[in-house]
Amino acid sequence: MDFIKTQTYHNLARGFAGECQAGMRYQLTAKAAMKQGYEALANVVRSIAKNETNHARVFFEQMLQNGGSRDDVHIDAHYPFHAGTLEENLRFAMADEEAEAENVYPSFAKIAREEGFGQIALKFEQIAKVESHHRIIFNYLAEAFKDGSLYAAERPMLWICSECGYMSAVRSVSGRSRSASSLHERSSLKNAAFLRRISGDQRRLSYEKEQQQGECRKAERQECAERSEQREELRQAESQRL
Ligand SMILES: [Fe+2]
Ligand SMILES: [Fe+2]
Repeated sequence: MDFIKTQTYHNLARGFAGECQAGMRYQLTAKAAMKQGYEALANVVRSIAKNETNHARVFFEQMLQNGGSRDDVHIDAHYPFHAGTLEENLRFAMADEEAEAENVYPSFAKIAREEGFGQIALKFEQIAKVESHHRIIFNYLAEAFKDGSLYAAERPMLWICSECGYMSAVRSVSGRSRSASSLHERSSLKNAAFLRRISGDQRRLSYEKEQQQGECRKAERQECAERSEQREELRQAESQRL
């Protein structure tokens, strides 16, 4: 079968375009967050934008490896072009990640497997897992942003500024002051507080991600072994016929 005529090739192209767009949308969200003084939030969103760029690279490489270089690839697809306030953008991102994780990439994986491209199916599945983690992070950001808990704790705790190392034991670090120095201090604390909470979540998520990647690698090895067994059986059947 000519690879470029398969639905899987088309889906890789759709995935590539979608990931590039998501990466750009998140960069714009990060820029808006920076403008509003939420530097740490911007850093988290920017790191997710970087993940999307890497997903785009994975799809692009699969297209090149299996279909070669092409000058004119037609893509028939729908993409989101929504934008709003910072909180709305976090919620849009959460919904987009959910759609990718639960519908888009699982269906692409199913089609790839049906068309006989097991390795590409695994790529779609691995990326779907990451998107489900992105959904969790965006959900957390949107909820915490809404209820004002991004930079607050139930009890006084030690916050360390990631910029200057300033330490302070406080319960809440939200709010702004007219004094320039105080504004800087409070703003740094806000970001430090946020970083502290997010980094815990990220450590847990990256642990889960590693576990899942390990499972995917195991499945990949198993698929490879099954294929070589099948090849061996075919070879033996052929030699018996001769
Ligand atoms: Fe992605
Ligand atoms: Fe994502």
